[in-house]
Amino acid sequence: PTEVVTTKAELRAALAIRPGRRAVVMTMGALHEGHLSLVRRAKELADVVVVTDFVNPLQFAPDEDFDSYPRDLKGDVELLRGEGVDVVFAPSIEEMYPREPLVRIDPGPVAQLFEGVTRPTHFAGVVQVVTKLLNLTQPDVAIFGEKDAQQLALIRTLVADLDIPVRIVGAPIARDDDGVARSSRNAYLSTEERGHARALVAALDAAEQAAATGDASSPAQLADIAERALADAPGVRVDYVAAVDASTYLPADAATREIILALAAFVGPTRLIDNRRIELE
Ligand code: PAJ
Repeated sequence: PTEVVTTKAELRAALAIRPGRRAVVMTMGALHEGHLSLVRRAKELADVVVVTDFVNPLQFAPDEDFDSYPRDLKGDVELLRGEGVDVVFAPSIEEMYPREPLVRIDPGPVAQLFEGVTRPTHFAGVVQVVTKLLNLTQPDVAIFGEKDAQQLALIRTLVADLDIPVRIVGAPIARDDDGVARSSRNAYLSTEERGHARALVAALDAAEQAAATGDASSPAQLADIAERALADAPGVRVDYVAAVDASTYLPADAATREIILALAAFVGPTRLIDNRRIELE
């Protein structure tokens, strides 16, 4: 049966009685199929699966949606029970941050690019909470979604640079039937906006297609094709389109062959992201 714990002490006790390989999936709750696909991967990789469910205030800027971010712990626990999760850690803010943390992890230059341009403190907040949650759950493996590709890249760098003893596993982007990447923020979309949101995946499809046919042979051309497709789509305002080096997440140069094509766009007031890994010939 799934044990739900809210304090660090309860978590420690819940882990102590469950021997075996341990996997953690970190979430901010409002769980959907995207999160559950990570949980299923975790079950394949480990004997004991821990899911953390915590809306981390440190990764939201004051003008962002921390207060309105969807929260449904009861619904989340139902879903996680259905997946056979062993332990759910759902701490309060006071439990995680009894005071403002003074020691801060600097996520480095990649954190200022792309998502970091409009959200300059976001990734510092992410690496801070991820480090704490890794220390608290002490997993053998931690699973993160490729949906948040820049986050995944930064967490790989965090673990490598600080020698955190955990294996980081990326899981593929889960999509709805219309191709839209699953996201808790999709809940903000009206029916009409939901239609407009398809433009993100369509732009990635167009670029991938161009790479496959040879119509795009450089990272810049890939980004160009996606950008034009997005710019032409109704109801969508482009934030950025970027071709990055899939291993470093730094901007791709003309010679880079393993690309992540990443984009962000506003659909109405809602900011959505998507990306695709594309190999150039
Ligand atoms: P959250 O947005 O809740 O996402 C939790 C995990 O689910 C992340 O690893 C994210 O990449 C993954 N995920 C979300 N939607 C997905 C989809 N459609 N397909 C595949 N994976 C998907 O990311 C965070 O929370 C936070 O920043 C966190 C890492 C928990 C730190 O607070």
